[in-house]
Amino acid sequence: MEVSRLLSVSLLLFGLAAASNFDGHQVWRLNDLSASQAKDINTLLTGLDFDVWSHGRDWLDVRVPPHLARPLQRRLQELSVPHTIMIDDVQRKINEERKGLNRSRGKTGIHISEYNELEAIEAYMSEVSEKYEWVSLKSIGKTFEGRDLWVNILAVPGDTPKPAVWIDCGIHAREWITQATCLYGLEYLTTQYGTDEAATSLLDAYDIYLMPMHNPDGYYYTWHNDRLWRKNRMQHEGSICHGVDLNRNWDDGHWGGAGTSDNSCSDIYKGPEPFSELETQAVRDYTSGLMTSNNLTAYFTIHCYSQLWMYAYGWTGEATPDDADLYRISEIGVVALRAVHDTRYQFGSIYNAIYPASGTSIDWSYSSGVVHTYTLELRDTGSNGFLLPATEIIPTGQETWAGLIAAILAI
Ligand SMILES: *[C@@H]1O[C@H](CO)[C@@H](O)[C@H](O)[C@H]1NC(C)=O
Ligand SMILES: *[C@@H]1O[C@H](CO)[C@@H](O)[C@H](O)[C@H]1NC(C)=O
Ligand SMILES: [Zn+2]
Repeated sequence: MEVSRLLSVSLLLFGLAAASNFDGHQVWRLNDLSASQAKDINTLLTGLDFDVWSHGRDWLDVRVPPHLARPLQRRLQELSVPHTIMIDDVQRKINEERKGLNRSRGKTGIHISEYNELEAIEAYMSEVSEKYEWVSLKSIGKTFEGRDLWVNILAVPGDTPKPAVWIDCGIHAREWITQATCLYGLEYLTTQYGTDEAATSLLDAYDIYLMPMHNPDGYYYTWHNDRLWRKNRMQHEGSICHGVDLNRNWDDGHWGGAGTSDNSCSDIYKGPEPFSELETQAVRDYTSGLMTSNNLTAYFTIHCYSQLWMYAYGWTGEATPDDADLYRISEIGVVALRAVHDTRYQFGSIYNAIYPASGTSIDWSYSSGVVHTYTLELRDTGSNGFLLPATEIIPTGQETWAGLIAAILAI
């Protein structure tokens, strides 16, 4: 089939990337794609700066601005690619979400069941570290805009040193349910240690290094400028656009491969060089230290959406030497997760289960020696996409942490 005919849409696309009002924008799901169609159409749409929200082996979700709806629909018909509308007005959904946000709270405290502003999250992380002797707060670096990269360390005292587990959220700014789920975990583990069996077993066996906001500059920007911003806010000399996709910036030897872009305006811009970004440098250096000195045993990085539990590799379809073990632990995780609210996850290697993606943090940490390296894509399966209602924060937190703990304890 002639995917290249879609290219004629390209002339219509100037100015698309800068949009931050989404009146009349829709999210379409392209269905029933063959493996090669899925790959080609994704490459093509991202090459044209369409905002691809998510994709799997035989489907792809893309945000479609109103002026491009008809040309795109015509092309898709010619290509016999069926589509359904997942979200019929993105801005309406953003407005609904905004109505529910409590912006008056400022630094006075967070509500775990709501989405919280950056300042409130930072204040809470600090508050928890003051309240519990076994919780500390550490800045592992600074961002381009000068914000700290904060990590909470949950280390209940024990007779012998415990191995470490790393969990980060929010590497992609707009994935709000992820920052919220890390915060849910911070609250749950600190208040429930000694009471709840899972929380207690976890903290008796491991020290937890929790980073709710891998990308604070981006998160701030999603609250104040563009709700759908994904990258950080770096401005490299000579770049037209701001921002690097932090999850395409890691170097495991395959930086810049499939699923990345060298256009600074692209949402999957890999950056000018591997580890060009302050956020990826900071997490690389800090977790490398944990590998050397703290027996780093598991590394989780949390995204949304699509309900997936994935492991290495992303850059190739070849199985890792640890495939059987990664499969086993993932299955334990998704079974425990599903037991809470019957939320169904698929699992597998990134490349095979989902799509090729090079320069991701888990390919890096796996190849650095942390075998149990996983990426989760949280709720939902597309009806809300990145705009998941706040009513789902608590159930998502409950099931995700049930899955994480079951998996970690099975290692
Ligand atoms: C907003 O947060 C403040 C401070 O926590 C609280 O007193 C108020 O009731 C909240 N408002 C809404 C609408 O939730
Ligand atoms: C590291 O932790 C794992 C358990 O997560 C344990 O099996 C292993 O013995 C530990 N290694 C060292 C060197 O302490
Ligand atoms: Zn993501």
